[in-house]
Amino acid sequence: MTVPTRAGSDETVRSGSCPCGATFEQRALLFEGRALFATPSRCPACLRAQAEREEARERERRAVAEAATRAARLAELAVPPLYTEVSLDAFRLHGDRAAQARQATALRIARRYVAAWPQVEVLLLFQGGPGTGKGHLAWSLAKAVVSEHGGSARVVKLARLIRDLREPWRSKEGAGEERRLRAYRVPDLLVIDEVSRHAFYGQSVQQHLYDVLDDRLEHQRPTILTTNETDAGIAEILGPALLDRLQGSGGVVRFGDASWRTRPLEATA
Ligand SMILES: Nc1ncnc2c1ncn2[C@@H]1O[C@H](COP(=O)(O)OP(=O)(O)OP(=O)(O)O)[C@@H](O)[C@H]1O
Ligand SMILES: [Mg+2]
Ligand SMILES: [Zn+2]
Repeated sequence: MTVPTRAGSDETVRSGSCPCGATFEQRALLFEGRALFATPSRCPACLRAQAEREEARERERRAVAEAATRAARLAELAVPPLYTEVSLDAFRLHGDRAAQARQATALRIARRYVAAWPQVEVLLLFQGGPGTGKGHLAWSLAKAVVSEHGGSARVVKLARLIRDLREPWRSKEGAGEERRLRAYRVPDLLVIDEVSRHAFYGQSVQQHLYDVLDDRLEHQRPTILTTNETDAGIAEILGPALLDRLQGSGGVVRFGDASWRTRPLEATA
C-alpha cells in the first residue's frame, strides 16, 4: 500500500528485517521507485532495549556526577581530625540518669534531623557545658547532610566567622564583606560553633550574627548554633528578634553538663 505524503513523494509500509532477525513493520519513503529513510530501523523489542540501555547509562552518569559533588562537598567541609570518625551511632549515653535522658533526647532530635532533612527546624541551638557532645552531634549532622543527602554544609566557630567578616574592613577590600557573607548564607546547612558573648575579644558580635542568621532564616536555610552560655547569655547574644525566632522556628537542645572528657571510667564500657 502506498500513500502520497505532503512532500509529494510516496510513503510505503513494508516488512523490515531487524539485525536481530525479527521482522517488523517499517515505513519508508519511495523515491523514484526506491525505498529511502526507512523508519524505524529496528524492531520494537530492539528499540525498547536500546532505550533502556540509554536510560541506564544516563542514570549511571548522574550517579557518578552526584558522587563527585558529594565528595567535593565533603572535602570542602574540611572535617577536623577530632571529628572525622564521629557519628550519631558513636554517640554514647553516660553519666547519671538525668544526664542520659538529656543525651537520649539530643540524639533523638539529631536522628530525626537527618531523617527529615531538609524539612528540619530552621534554627536549632545546642546548649551545654564543655565536652558534652555538642560538637560531636553538630559535626555528625553536617557530615550526614553532605554524605547522605548530597547537600552542602559548613561548620565555623563564631570567632572565626567574625574575623573573616571583619577582614575586609582592615584591608579596605571593597565588596569583600558581601562576598564573605555569601559563603555563610548559601550553604544548605550552617553550624556556628562556640557561640559566646566573648567570642571576639569581648566585642559585640550580635550584628555579624544577625547579618548571617537573618538572611538564612529568610531563605529557610537551616542553621545550628552551639554554645556554653546560660539562657541569659543566649538572650544577650541573640537579641530579642533572633531569640524570638529561635523559640518560634526551632528550639534549644540541652546537653547538660556531664562531660564525656571527664566521665567516670565505667561509663566507657
Ligand atoms: N556522648 C558521647 N559519646 C561519645 N563521644 C562523645 C560523647 N560526647 C562527647 N564525645 C567526644 O568527646 C569529645 C568532646 O566532645 P565535643 O567536642 O562534642 O564537646 P562540646 O560539647 O563541643 O564541648 P565544648 O563546649 O568544650 O566545645 C569529642 O571527641 C567527642 O567525640
Ligand atoms: Mg565544641
Ligand atoms: Zn530486533
